[in-house]
Amino acid sequence: MTNVKIVEVGARDGLQNEKTPLSVDDKLALITGLMAANLVYIEVGSCVSPKWVPQMAGSTKVFSKLPKQSKTQLSLLTPNLRGLQDALAVGCKDVAVFTAATDSFTQHNINCTIDESLARFADIIALAKDHDVRVRGYVSCMVDCPYEGAVSPSQVAHVARRLYDLGCDEISLGETIGTATPNRVKLAWQACLDELDKHVLAGHFHNTYGMAIANVYASLEQGIRIFDSSVSGLGGCPYAKGASGNVATEDLHYLLTGMGFQTGIDIDQLMKVSQMISKKLNRDNGSLFTKARLAQCTSA
Ligand code: HMG
Ligand code: MG
Repeated sequence: MTNVKIVEVGARDGLQNEKTPLSVDDKLALITGLMAANLVYIEVGSCVSPKWVPQMAGSTKVFSKLPKQSKTQLSLLTPNLRGLQDALAVGCKDVAVFTAATDSFTQHNINCTIDESLARFADIIALAKDHDVRVRGYVSCMVDCPYEGAVSPSQVAHVARRLYDLGCDEISLGETIGTATPNRVKLAWQACLDELDKHVLAGHFHNTYGMAIANVYASLEQGIRIFDSSVSGLGGCPYAKGASGNVATEDLHYLLTGMGFQTGIDIDQLMKVSQMISKKLNRDNGSLFTKARLAQCTSA
């Protein structure tokens, strides 16, 4: 039994910032590898403008070629109605809308203000519900914004609450630029937990300053049980310059199982996928767990 939910975002957050876009076949190999490692919640890609994020072009093609298993929930990001219609056309049952706690970030990311984004999402969520599609809402900049600096916890909670009131089933708070320390993360959670039940909240931590795993720990202490992560620590946001990847799924698994939680992940299979994708992208593996295990194997 899994008692912490892990949302694997490597194929979306992980690849959206890579210089060289991966082919459809390479993305399929990555995602089917993740499915084989028993990851249940997997973001496949984004239905966004290819002019804005070329790396996500072809996401619906990837989605339609993936094997559909009842235990796996495959999702697509859909910032506007056009995106949702594209997702519906390939039979997607899980989508995500995304805004931020600051107008500047929202403007850079999706070309509108927070209020405008929420007005858009009202239509998206209504159509999604008509099709029995679950909707996750993201709030970027849960602690710091790359354009406005520190963000007040009450503002984060306010946007999270508005997304919930619009009908989002789950709200993921993005620590977008990876600058937060656990004390500040706790303050953001405390404000959100005054507004929302802990079961609808998820933590999404980037690891730019090496704080992601500490921030997961701080979130666990606040009762949060849903976390986003990416295999091999892939990731970054095209609109958050210098931000590095998400907490690595392998490192998250290590923390959680060490603390007595179950993740359901087949860690040996996940390490294979981690190595495969790092090689394909010609990048250093971003998981300390995987690196340590591989070093042990070679020195044995
Ligand atoms: P816009 O320019 O305001 O929209 O972009 P538009 O309606 O004026 O359309 C512009 C062009 O895009 C048109 O094409 C449309 O057809 C096309 P043209 O006429 O110029 O040839 N277009 C689309 N094409 C494909 N799919 C669509 C679509 N919509 C319009 N759905 C828009 C608005 C939202 C489209 C744009 O800003 C966009 O695509 N942004 C993407 C941003 C993004 O993907 N960011 C990364 C994900 S968020 C993230 O990483 C943070 C997160 O990880 C949490 C965290 O870490 O904090 C979630
Ligand atoms: Mg992110």
